[in-house]
Amino acid sequence: MIENEWLFLIYLLAGCLFILSIRGLSSPQTASRGNWLGMAGMLLAVDGTLLALPAQNHLLIFAALLSGGVVGLIGGLKVKITALPQMIAILNGLGGLSSALIGLAEILDGNANVYEVSVALFVGGAACSGSLVAFGKLQSILGAKFGRFPLQNFFNILISIGLLCTWIFFITHPSFFNATILLCAALAWGVLIILPIGGADMPIIIAVLNACSGWAAAGIGFSLANVALIMTGALVGAGGTILAFVMTKAMNRSLWAVMFTRLSDKTGALDSGEHEAKSGSPIDAAFILQNAHKVIIVPGYGMAVAQAQHILQTMASILSKKYNVEVKFAIHPVAGRMPGHMNVLLAEANVPYEDVYALENINREFASADAAYVIGANDITNPIARTDPASPLYGMPVLDVGKAKTVFFVKRSLNSGYAGVENPLFYAPNTVMLYGDAKKVTEEIVEVLERS
Ligand code: TAP
Repeated sequence: MIENEWLFLIYLLAGCLFILSIRGLSSPQTASRGNWLGMAGMLLAVDGTLLALPAQNHLLIFAALLSGGVVGLIGGLKVKITALPQMIAILNGLGGLSSALIGLAEILDGNANVYEVSVALFVGGAACSGSLVAFGKLQSILGAKFGRFPLQNFFNILISIGLLCTWIFFITHPSFFNATILLCAALAWGVLIILPIGGADMPIIIAVLNACSGWAAAGIGFSLANVALIMTGALVGAGGTILAFVMTKAMNRSLWAVMFTRLSDKTGALDSGEHEAKSGSPIDAAFILQNAHKVIIVPGYGMAVAQAQHILQTMASILSKKYNVEVKFAIHPVAGRMPGHMNVLLAEANVPYEDVYALENINREFASADAAYVIGANDITNPIARTDPASPLYGMPVLDVGKAKTVFFVKRSLNSGYAGVENPLFYAPNTVMLYGDAKKVTEEIVEVLERS
């Protein structure tokens, strides 16, 4: 066993590595280094804990480390990038559950601080069950409307009051039995609060649940007097909280609206009798793109679904190398379904970082572009966000694709996107719809570009 002072130093070093890791993850160029730093920090924290424990526990701990490590490795290798939110939901749930179970064990041990343990039981329990529901929604096991009923918000306020009473009762009468009741109430509360939230709002809820599992870990860290748990719990809690606010701000929605109001479920197209959308073929698109001086590519959620990033990179490279076209990629902060979704996919396809521009750095350039190639994106281009105060998109900054000479929308239909808002740009005179799967359409354009 090592001395406490040494353990504290090891934890401090691990904490510094975690902070440097988060800093590294803030840009695609340094993300890989950030990942390594995070892994090194975790290795240090785990090794320090092992060295500080009595030797007779090592076998059990190694068995847990090995089984958890194998499951994590298989998950990391097998889970597709589009399914990352689901994986994070499961990990949040496990984090919350372990904090809650440690809380119960502490109560059994009889040396627990009742306030700290109550935080772990309540927040950890709710994070666990809420994350499982979030997983079910994201995986489409539970439908978007599953679990909704009239007067639900009123009912949820009542059960929240019930949970608060259970909490107060546990704090005033701490016992293992009352702790178990509080944990069960928190588990039920997590399910009921998360159940009515639409699947599309889940990425924000995942960030909230992520924050909850962090705060629960920090709570139990105080109870165990474990500096590493307090530090990592606080980092995860603060990170998740900031992320939730960044996402809601970029979408111009409040956390309250996400939790207690429902997005429109409407996904239909505008009345075709009043509007006519022009469609084109990949051959038409290839002709315009190869004769352009400047093309701006706007990827969105549909590109991720279709996994079209590699063929898109091939198209961009042919355009610039064979036809001397200036090609740039425009990234909206909430394109796709998770922060940095598009950056990760483009980096995976080896799109050079210097060709990828954030909204504020590229928006002025659409006016001088010959073509905008909008692939699987919709809401992030919708001009209604500027003009219609009644729209759920109102106030969200959007990419000015409509200012390009020609706008190609690559998507399967005229259906709306995540926010359920129809996009008038589909009917603009300079818009050409390229109907079909994002990958297939781009492959066909590449074929033409290679042939001509
Ligand atoms: P969306 O507005 O959701 O539009 C995506 C479009 O992709 C859909 O209209 C769909 O049209 C098309 N699509 C789907 N599968 C396709 C495929 N295989 N091939 C071709 N097209 C396909 O996506 P966006 O423009 O990226 O905007 C993101 C939205 O998500 C925003 O409203 C944002 O607020 C929200 N959101 C983002 C985040 C983060 S952090 N990124 C988190 C939560 C919510 P068809 O069905 O016609 O093909």
